[in-house]
Amino acid sequence: MKATVITYGCQMNEYDTHLVESQLVSLGADLVDGVDEADFVLINTCAVRGKPVDKVRSLLGDLRKLKASRGLMIGMMGCLAQLDEGQQLARTFEVDVLLGPGSLLDLGAALESNTRFWGLQFRDELHDHIPPAPQGKLQAHLTIMRGCDHHCTYCIVPTTRGPQVSRTPDSILRELDGLLAAGVREVTLLGQNVNAYGIDQGARVAGIPSFAQLLRLVGASGIERVKFTTSHPMNFTEDVAQAMAETPAVCEFVHLPVQSGSDAVLRRMAREYTRDAYLQHIRHIRRHMPDAVLATDIIVGFPGETEEDFQQTLDLYDEVGYDSAYMFIYSPRPGTPSYRHFADLPREVKTERLQRLIVKQKEWSQRRNAARVGTLQNVLIRGDAHDSGFLEGHTRGNHPVVIPKALGADGPGIYPVRIEHATPHMLYGHVVDAAGQPLPARPQLAPEAAAVSSPLAML
Ligand code: 5AD
Ligand code: SF4
Repeated sequence: MKATVITYGCQMNEYDTHLVESQLVSLGADLVDGVDEADFVLINTCAVRGKPVDKVRSLLGDLRKLKASRGLMIGMMGCLAQLDEGQQLARTFEVDVLLGPGSLLDLGAALESNTRFWGLQFRDELHDHIPPAPQGKLQAHLTIMRGCDHHCTYCIVPTTRGPQVSRTPDSILRELDGLLAAGVREVTLLGQNVNAYGIDQGARVAGIPSFAQLLRLVGASGIERVKFTTSHPMNFTEDVAQAMAETPAVCEFVHLPVQSGSDAVLRRMAREYTRDAYLQHIRHIRRHMPDAVLATDIIVGFPGETEEDFQQTLDLYDEVGYDSAYMFIYSPRPGTPSYRHFADLPREVKTERLQRLIVKQKEWSQRRNAARVGTLQNVLIRGDAHDSGFLEGHTRGNHPVVIPKALGADGPGIYPVRIEHATPHMLYGHVVDAAGQPLPARPQLAPEAAAVSSPLAML
């Protein structure tokens, strides 16, 4: 069988895609790149906002035609599969295999059964299942927990992914050993709320570490870079900031979703913290890591958000001065409390506020990035940027960086790079030697061609 997996959504979904791809391979399937070659197309869906759901619907429409014309088998997994909304789509578009986020290990059983297969249970084995390490990659994700115990009123995740279950430290460290042996140099620990790691297990797993302790354990494994995402402010205790500062492998990058700067909105979102409590976390982080890179998530146009509430979000943005932000228009999701209880704001109000927030975000990203011009950054270079003679990579703080290929630095690796230029979304620089001098350029494209394909030329 030739199979392909199409992924929408977050890093958890990318990790789950890797997990099912390895299942497919061990079941004897060949992985192919596109739908055209495939006998089985599995869509890994996202249900957090309405937009990805619309994309899945239109893709399913196309796939159903291929099913009729050449017997393509269709699978759907991920958050949407767990919801009535997704199951309705599965019926309409004749989906053969439906796997909720807790049932990914049922894939073998699904492919063996000759009838339509729906797996919607949360299966315990999944928590300690270790997928094979990705080959030939310097970066990997590692899921340390699944599910979420918070109940933010706008969020469908507690319904789709269920309550929080942490993996044992033993299985996390075994997975990490496999990644190290495969040559991985940067690992991102994943969970809906990694800071609450272990809390769900309480006394069940003797001596389960806190997240701060886990960071120290992972940091001592020999991996060069550790990142994590994402954190709920309520669980971001000061010992985490301290462990980050004291563990050299842990990168000084914090993604701390604030969602809104208004206490009234935070209360209706049931976020369980106030604006002041959030800012206190930021102070702790800055005290332990003065150079921390800060990112956030913000929802604009939550029901009842007044112009004044929104101004408080803009003010909070200035107070923190984030390096980057993911900004979302509130999307009413059937099945969530905010969908049931509150009226949606007019579309124009929401989009106009988003535009203003984007302007603010760009200003701050430009300012933050410009302050890095002249600094030395360790950049993990993944490889070529679109055959352009340039390499692309990212810093410990997750800034994307573009670098010309140089002698001694023309492939994947971690290199010291002097930053020479910055835009709101990109840093540009040269790899330098131990004395801080740029490495000699690698002879390559003719000057005219280089000028055309240079990202610098497009500024
Ligand atoms: N509408 C808009 N954004 C949402 N998010 C979660 N649910 C919704 C929703 N209903 C955003 C939050 C969260 C991120 C992953 O997605 O900002 O942090
Ligand atoms: Fe959703 Fe809130 Fe849990 Fe994040 S913390 S996954 S926003 S319920």
